[in-house]
Amino acid sequence: MTTPAEIQFKEVDLDAVATATGKIVVFVDVDGKMDAGARKVNTLGRKALGRFTQSDAFEKMAVGDLTNLAYPAGLEADAVCVIKLGRRPSSQEARKAGAQLAKAQSGKDVLVLAGSIARADEIALGLALRGYDFDAHKSAEKKLKGAVTFMVAKPEDVAKSAAPMAAIAEGVFFTRDLTNEPANVLTTDDFAARLAAMQELGLDVEILEEPDLHKLGMRTLLSVGQGSDSPSKVVVMSWNGGGKEAPFALVGKGVVFDTGGISLKPAGGMEDMTMDMGGAGVVAGVMRTLALRKAKANVVGIVGLVENMPSGNATRPGDVVKSMKGETVEIINTDAEGRLVLADVLWYAQERFKPVGMINLATLTGAILVALGHENAGLFSNSDELSDAFLKAAAAEGEGAWRMPLSPAYDELIKSQIADIKNVGGRFAGSITAAQFLQRFVKDDVPWAHLDIAGTASVKKETALAPAGATGWGVMALNRLIADKYET
Ligand code: BES
Ligand code: MN
Ligand code: ZN
Repeated sequence: MTTPAEIQFKEVDLDAVATATGKIVVFVDVDGKMDAGARKVNTLGRKALGRFTQSDAFEKMAVGDLTNLAYPAGLEADAVCVIKLGRRPSSQEARKAGAQLAKAQSGKDVLVLAGSIARADEIALGLALRGYDFDAHKSAEKKLKGAVTFMVAKPEDVAKSAAPMAAIAEGVFFTRDLTNEPANVLTTDDFAARLAAMQELGLDVEILEEPDLHKLGMRTLLSVGQGSDSPSKVVVMSWNGGGKEAPFALVGKGVVFDTGGISLKPAGGMEDMTMDMGGAGVVAGVMRTLALRKAKANVVGIVGLVENMPSGNATRPGDVVKSMKGETVEIINTDAEGRLVLADVLWYAQERFKPVGMINLATLTGAILVALGHENAGLFSNSDELSDAFLKAAAAEGEGAWRMPLSPAYDELIKSQIADIKNVGGRFAGSITAAQFLQRFVKDDVPWAHLDIAGTASVKKETALAPAGATGWGVMALNRLIADKYET
């Protein structure tokens, strides 16, 4: 898997600046004031830094921006990177600064003079996250990864607060790798094997195979995968770091590839459906983070892994299938498959674990892209408390989410002539009817939220903390939600 940069925190030693190679990073306050580290670089570098901090160019920089001063006189380093940042930056500003640094690093060793800056840990997190590069399938020689050293006032303290952030970076990287991986590599078998490997971290991982799923009556899930040569699976990951209380449940849509099935998608852009397991990817990334930071909470992550393919054995439009809950579903469109997978996994999660709350994640509808674009995931919930807690956690992590409505009025749209419900609701309110469908499989007394991440899981342009491709959206927000609300 792609691993985040390893970052060292050391005592400040300004005598090392003259001979440091690679890049030296200094922070300059918005008013142009230099700290001890910057002054040292300024003195060694014949006052070039001071001239820059007085310039229009510096004035024009936004907080968190970086300017590269190449081949400075008086220093052995290749460049001095100047970052404009206050002494007490917000965590978003600090992460942005770290991200700029990752983009400027270009494989070089980096020495960060952060003796006067609070939140060096957040700068390190931004650097780690934006340093992600999915190069598993590039045959050219792998790019060099330079060593990153932060000089800080209290290295032990910073290292301690940076440790859970390293766990976050690793969880986000795991999600991104899974989501970026093409479907011929990340088959249902391969996905399950990668999850099973997390047993090394102290997670319990259980894999339910097709015969088990048949016995449980998960026919809506099985109906999605039956056209594929890859076997359908449900994987249960448990982290028991809390007391005896029931767990919080995370449920993910893991469609390793979505052709649409017999309701085949058009060719243009179909390759993007390799990310249709993004919900399951987020669940896996959160579980990894919880295990790495030994969270004091009980959390179960359950993912439904299937491939939606057309074949002689595939589900037909018009087929009627019985869910594990017992309700029957008329499958009008085999491309509305995510809700069929989630229906059974949600029901199973409640029957087996009686969770204190439940959040599912899914790249569920194209309609959520029409509504919210790539900036926000759609949040649907039967609980104001859970919904507010999630929105708060997401805002704190800079992950966009926007609450959308649920209401029984929409149920009219998914009534079926011949079965209990049908799996599509027509042209309008596509994301809401999908959420309404899911709610049929949620018990009234279970606080539940559904996150439609079709727009946020993977994007074509870089974002603040990720290059183009999978973002890992949601791992940080869910990790924080669990830390704030469910940790003892
Ligand atoms: N996986 C897709 C949704 C999707 C679309 C994810 C774009 C990411 C980007 C989902 O299974 C799907 O095909 N949904 C259909 C539902 C429709 C048939 C009711 C859609 O959105 O078109
Ligand atoms: Mn589909
Ligand atoms: Zn899908």
